Amino acid sequence: MAYRVSVLQFAPRLLDTRSNLKRLEELFSGLETDLAVLPELCTSGYVFQSQSEVESASEAFPGGPAFEFFCALAWERQCSIVYGFAERSSDVFYNSCALVNPDGSQHLYRKTHLFNREKLFFAPGNTGLQVFEAKGGVKVGLMVCFDWQFPEAARTLALKGAQVICHPSNLVLPWCQQAMLTRSLENRVFSITANRVGSEGPAGLSLNFTGMSQIIGTKGEILVRMTETETGVRTCEINPENALDKTVTPLNDAFGDRRPEFYEL
Ligand code: ACM
Repeated sequence: MAYRVSVLQFAPRLLDTRSNLKRLEELFSGLETDLAVLPELCTSGYVFQSQSEVESASEAFPGGPAFEFFCALAWERQCSIVYGFAERSSDVFYNSCALVNPDGSQHLYRKTHLFNREKLFFAPGNTGLQVFEAKGGVKVGLMVCFDWQFPEAARTLALKGAQVICHPSNLVLPWCQQAMLTRSLENRVFSITANRVGSEGPAGLSLNFTGMSQIIGTKGEILVRMTETETGVRTCEINPENALDKTVTPLNDAFGDRRPEFYEL
């Protein structure tokens, strides 16, 4: 099965959802893909300084303006879209990502492992790690940025049948992109890490984001890797069915050979 997957890398503007959606509209212009993955908090920016900033940049799911925008885009471009956003649920805020599909179905994931100052503004996710169907029935697992540090996250998604791990990110530490080669390899799944670029925040809180958004194959191959600074979209074709094959050697299977009775997870 030929399936086109895309990763988008750009520099969202803090607290400026309107201009971020406009930029994304430009990046999607003419794009022909089946599944597109966007960065974490791509509608709002990342370096919040107060709860009221988070509140002003957040929206309920489903139903907010960014949600409506991405649903319309998914329909127009006939692709599935995974995007990160600040979610408001009553008076609780989550660092969330959503999957919206061209048939109108939609799904939500709330980041399980919060990173550093995110803990000041967001509640830890309570959705658990879940796998959903994207366009064409391809099974996608959702995780957000720092979830990479915990191999249990990707393993859980793979054990639940994920063929492609979609991984919206705002990375600042230097290790994730290489670590995701291993997450793909050990689970025999594709992974798409969509990172942002640029710097954000005042002196003392300023962060530099590391770009290098990537699409990784089931044997840890780098199919796409962007530079640390470029903005744009990169697309490649994959066969998601490859992720159903967990064979390592004729006598080894990456999942069949697991010995969970000896693991303390
Ligand atoms: C991160 O989780 N945004 C590093």
